[in-house]
Amino acid sequence: MKQTIYTLFMAILLLASPLSYSASTGVHLDSVDIDLSDKESLQRGANLFMNNCLSCHAASYMRYNRMARDIGLSEEEVKENLIFGSDKIGDTMTIAMRPDDAKKWFGVTPPDLSVIARARGTDWLYTYLRTFYIDSTKPIGTNNLVFKDSAMPHIFWQQQGYMHQDENGQLVNKGQKSTVDAEKSNVGNQITESEYNTLVRDLVNFMAYISEPSKIQRLAMGHWVLLYILLFTVIAYFMKKAFWEDIH
Ligand code: HEC
Repeated sequence: MKQTIYTLFMAILLLASPLSYSASTGVHLDSVDIDLSDKESLQRGANLFMNNCLSCHAASYMRYNRMARDIGLSEEEVKENLIFGSDKIGDTMTIAMRPDDAKKWFGVTPPDLSVIARARGTDWLYTYLRTFYIDSTKPIGTNNLVFKDSAMPHIFWQQQGYMHQDENGQLVNKGQKSTVDAEKSNVGNQITESEYNTLVRDLVNFMAYISEPSKIQRLAMGHWVLLYILLFTVIAYFMKKAFWEDIH
């Protein structure tokens, strides 16, 4: 009973809150505009995901061949460019790393990302991937604004550069130079802030797609349903007219 009341309470709270805040930290979340009909964005996102995330995380509900079809790529293109390791086109997206090893290296097993967009929300993901910052008190040298003490390293440090927290808690981008990667600094492929936002948006768009792959079809189907309703309304109108004619 207590459980039910709690669930109900949380549901109401969730529905009633118009602004998105991270539940755990209260940090404001930047909103991202997700567009599952933007195939080019989904393809760029898939590329980023396969190259940068699948080494640690799996997406074990998602099959490569279904993804190919949904985001407008041929199976050959996916086989050639997006499948690393020993996975086959009909397989689900697994990782080569053994969970035990991951646990040893990071202290936690990187979670499966199949439904992460539904679990965390797209705004959370968008903010998470843009708010890693240098924190020398942490074993991995970085921290995250929305996921405090996240054991995940800053994957896109070369693209985004490193953020530092100023005395007001605001993040300032200080480029690729950092205490962590001093020797690797000045690699020279840092991109602008707006380019980085687009990169993260594409990636989040892709994660939104894999967390609900049939939504793409539903959206397409929606247009037909609307057309049907429209057509039916017209027919109903003329039927009504025809029926009432006899009564008058
Ligand atoms: C080097 C390994 C590694 C790579 C590569 C990596 N992650 Fe992670 N990730 C982790 C670990 C470890 C955690 C768990 C953090 C924790 O619980 O403290 C994590 C956590 C996360 C979470 C939070 C999950 C939750 O608990 O809700 C998200 C989201 C995420 N990663 C997304 C990504 C994305 C997207 C990429 C690709 C750009 C990526 N990760 C690449 C190791 C990695």
